[in-house]
Formats: sequence, C-alpha cells, structure tokens
Amino acid sequence: MRKLSNILVTGGAGFIGVNFIRFLFENSAVQQRIINLDSLTYAGNAASLKDINEKFGGTRYFFEYGSICDKPIVEDIFQKYDIDTVIHFAAETHVDRSILGPKTFMDTNVMGTFVLLETARKFWKNADGTYRNDVLFHHVSTDEVYGSLGITGFFTETSPYNPSSPYSASKAAADHLVKSYFCTYGLPVTISNSSNNYGPYQFPEKLIPLMILNMIDGKELPLYGDGKNVRDWLYVNDHNAALWTIAQKGRAGETYVIGGDNEWENIELVYTLINIIARKTGKDADKIRDSITYVKDRPGHDRRYAADCSKIKIELGWEQSISREEGFERTIDWYMINSEWTRNVQSGEYRNWLELNYNRR
Ligand code: NAD
Ligand code: DAU
Repeated sequence: MRKLSNILVTGGAGFIGVNFIRFLFENSAVQQRIINLDSLTYAGNAASLKDINEKFGGTRYFFEYGSICDKPIVEDIFQKYDIDTVIHFAAETHVDRSILGPKTFMDTNVMGTFVLLETARKFWKNADGTYRNDVLFHHVSTDEVYGSLGITGFFTETSPYNPSSPYSASKAAADHLVKSYFCTYGLPVTISNSSNNYGPYQFPEKLIPLMILNMIDGKELPLYGDGKNVRDWLYVNDHNAALWTIAQKGRAGETYVIGGDNEWENIELVYTLINIIARKTGKDADKIRDSITYVKDRPGHDRRYAADCSKIKIELGWEQSISREEGFERTIDWYMINSEWTRNVQSGEYRNWLELNYNRR
C-alpha cells in the first residue's frame, strides 16, 4: 500500500504544478503534506499559491526554493520531510525556447531528473537492497516524445519514441532514464505522457493564454506556418485527476498516455476562442479575426498530436470530466479576472524575444 503521506512536488510553482497542488488541497479527502520544490524560473510564480501558503504553510504545505539539479538540496528535502512520493513536474517546457537555447533543457529535464532518481534510490532502499513498496516516483511527461502523427492514428503507450525538438528529446531522455531505474534497480516508478494542457495559471507564451490575452489587448494573433497543426487539448485538472489516480492505483513500471479526446487545428481553435471572447467582451469578432497574422513556422514543427488514453480509462477508471466548451469558458474567465497575475508573470524580455524570433512573413 502506498503511503502518499509526504509528497514532493517538483515544479509546483509552474502551470500544471500550481493546479495540481490546488487540486489536492481542494480535495478534502487528501490529508498529505505537500513539499513544493521550485527554482522559480521565468515560468514559476510562488505567488500563485499565496492563499494555500497562508492557510496551510508550515503544517501541510512547504515551499522550498531550489533546483532539482542541486543534489544537496534534494537530499536535504528527502531527509527533512521523509519524502515517500515524488510527483515530478519541474522542467523547461517551451518548445520555441528549446530551439533557441537547448542547454537548460538538458540540465533540468535530463540531469535534474537524474538527481531526483538517484536521491530516491538512496533514500528508498531497504537493508536487503530491494526498494520500499510504499513509495512512488511519478514522472510527468509529454506526448511530444512520440513525434508527429500524420492525418490519422493515435499515440499509445507502445508508440515508438521519435522526438523532434530539443525539448521533446530531453523529455524522451528523462523517460528512458526513469524507466531504466525500474528495470535495473526495481525503483517503483510510473510515467505519464500527456497531451497539451490548458487552463488557469499557464504562462502566456503557450498558444491558448497568448491568444486570449492578445485578443483582450487588441494585439496580433501570431499563427505559425499555415495554422493547421493539430493538438489534442486537455483541461489541466483532468490531467491532475489522472496523475492523482496514477499515484494511488498506477502499476509500478507502467506508462499511461493521457489526452483530451479533443483535437483542434490551431486556426479552428483560435476562431473558437475569438467567438467566446467577442461574446464576453462585446468586441467585434470580425475585427479580432483580422488580427490573425501568419508568421514564420517553428523549425521541426510537429504536425499533429492525438492521444489514445484507453489504457488509463480501462485499467484505472479515469476519464475527462470537463467538456471543451466548459474548459474554454473557464480559462477565458480566469484570464479576464486575473489580469494582475498576468502582469506579474509577463516580462518585457519575453515579448522582445517573440518579436525577434517570429517575424511576420
Ligand atoms: P511550466 O513551464 O509552466 O512550469 C515549470 C516549473 O518548473 C516552473 O515553476 C519552473 O520554475 C520549474 N522549474 C524549472 N526548472 C527547474 C529546476 N531546475 N528546479 C526546480 N524547478 C524548476 O511547465 P508546465 O506546463 O506546468 O509543465 C509541467 C510538466 O508537465 C513538465 O514536465 C512538462 O514537460 C509536462 N507537460 C506539460 C504539458 C503542457 O501542455 N503544459 C503537457 C504534457 C506534459
Ligand atoms: O503536447 C504536450 C506539449 O504541449 C507539452 O509537452 C509542452 O510543454 C507544451 O508547451 C505544449 O507544446 P506545444 O508546442 O504543442 O504548445 P504551444 O502552446 O507552444 O503550441 C501549440 C500549437 O500552437 C503548436 O502547433 C504551435 C502553435 N503556435 C504556438 C504559439 C505559441 C502558434 O501557431 N502560435 C503561437 O504563438
């Protein structure tokens, strides 16, 4: 039986991590201690959990500022909190940034994962060399490790790895490393490969929040290439429910693909967001549509992602619970209400960087 008592969440100040911690605290059945280790890169914002910290800080919630690459810090945390579960989100996550500067992706995504695995191995070993069976190392990964699909087909747990970007290659390397610790050492690990998430607290460099904010601000809507790349969108708390299900019931050594069953061409998705925003703000939808600007394509841009998540549905009983309409409405409402959060996380550096790297055609 897994303890799930002292849970180390890495990258818990980022988009999915913040929502995951909120999800656990909003679920009254959950009584664990949550230790959030985050180095607060441009994508991390500890203030996203200010209310949780005020209510539970020092009793059930602990924020630790530091890098997963820093072995003494990670070991100290395992020791201090008697960690029995790791939910490993921390990563560099933006494909465009990985194209411009891959090194931090290798450092955090590969070497950081290695440091965490080695620490788990050190602290979770029994006297006879086997590993405790009440612990779990869950690695949060991406469907991008499988590369691009054509117009048909789906990713499954047995799809071959074929990453296209330094980001997805670094996540693929981490996946292999995690799996090898199960095969070689018997460390209890699980891996999930999820499709594109959306929802509150996502840094506005990713497609959905970038488009929502640019629509609200009357700015250009940059679409890469022909705008017809396809992504499978999953509401963030459906992902988090899946992760919590895996933490409780997932079989050690197994991989689970998680998706939204919700494929959209980028251009169609943007049109849908425009219609909702026009309705909510009274802006003219045609005028917003005129702001769509086709820009230079992303190098190595994967054409289509689509996840077949039958395994987690059949074996663990998880399902998506948020419809696409509800998910988009909730997300847009959140960004409309939380402009202060957006101002806090947005930096001039990012905007300049975008201008420089994705010139208009
Ligand atoms: P994010 O970029 O919003 O947040 C990443 C967090 O990790 C930030 O808080 C950042 O400060 C922290 N971090 C980065 N380097 C660190 C380091 N060396 N040490 C400690 N903390 C560090 O990312 P996200 O979108 O929340 O993604 C979380 C995880 O989920 C990632 O592993 C990503 O690959 C995976 N994933 C994301 C998506 C998606 O659509 N966003 C889909 C599938 C899988
Ligand atoms: O599939 C899961 C992955 O989804 C995660 O592993 C990554 O961390 C996450 O960033 C996301 O990767 P994508 O590259 O698919 O997401 P992004 O939001 O950057 O882009 C989504 C699509 O929109 C993609 O086809 C590129 C396109 N795009 C993106 C931006 C930011 C545009 O056309 N214009 C834009 O300005």
